[in-house]
Amino acid sequence: MTPATLIRLVAAMLVLTAVISVVMLQFDWNGVAGSSEADDVDLLTDVMIALSAFVYSIVLVMLGYSVWRYRAKPGDESDGEPIHGNTKLEVTWTLIPTVIVLFCAAYSWFILDKIEAREADRLQVDVTAQQFAWRFEYPEEGVASTELHVPIDRQAEFNLKALDVVHSFWVPEWRVKKDAVPGQPTSLVATPDREGEYELICTELCGVGHSTMRAPVIVESEQEFASWVEKQGGEGAAGGGAAGGGALAAEGQQIFDDQGCNGCHTLEAAGATGTIGPSLDEVLPQRSPDEIRSSILDPDAELSPGFGRGIMPQDFGDALSPQQLDTLVRYLSENAGGQK
Ligand code: CUA
Repeated sequence: MTPATLIRLVAAMLVLTAVISVVMLQFDWNGVAGSSEADDVDLLTDVMIALSAFVYSIVLVMLGYSVWRYRAKPGDESDGEPIHGNTKLEVTWTLIPTVIVLFCAAYSWFILDKIEAREADRLQVDVTAQQFAWRFEYPEEGVASTELHVPIDRQAEFNLKALDVVHSFWVPEWRVKKDAVPGQPTSLVATPDREGEYELICTELCGVGHSTMRAPVIVESEQEFASWVEKQGGEGAAGGGAAGGGALAAEGQQIFDDQGCNGCHTLEAAGATGTIGPSLDEVLPQRSPDEIRSSILDPDAELSPGFGRGIMPQDFGDALSPQQLDTLVRYLSENAGGQK
């Protein structure tokens, strides 16, 4: 191969790299970006796409050149010339990939280091994952919720805990993702920089209800977040006491929703349509309040036909206060079986 041919081939590779890169970078691969980490991750993706285009171009150009230059003449049945080793070629094809891979590793390391840096004034959120629901506690604000509220432009640290199997915390718009592993606390940080409503998605196959294991994410202004915290605290303080009539229904449904019961069970009165567990409208009307209570506290003691062991969380005895449990049992026994 003459130097002039080599220069032409390299030029063809560079042009093809540019064309493929321009086309591929038109696509919005990762969707809406909603955190400051997202910009870094998206840039990393773009750089990787351009590098992949370069490697692909080398292969395509050399393939095309070989097909054209070394094609067999009609009627030529002879074997190719035997070749034994080519140091120059071997050094080249070792060196180029080595440089590319080392660059990718160093650049990824740099980005990871940057997006994992903890800021001093970050918001702490303790996240509990269990089949098939998320729970959020704000230790500094003293509130808990099944909706993830975070203020805009402030770093939030999510301390992940799993009660049963491995789950994974992912808000696509924030890009960052981390597993929640039983017995091994993990954490990740994100700095939301776009207000709006998003969805937290479990991205680790965790059982029959995996695809329904989602939670609303609300990114709001500092003031809106503060008033939400105040409202959550206010509701908690006002709870308890003997609730009756409409108040009981509202409070019972709140507990039903907060504990994630609606994710797995059908209960017309609560607008719940889950099918992972038995329909409460079907199985509860024949049960006494005491039986309903036992089923909440020890779900595996008696299973409805067709439903397996270990699917319903076993820890509602800890998660609910005795008052909340009373309210929930009364709510269920009075409302299951459709509106009465
Ligand atoms: Cu939890 Cu998938």
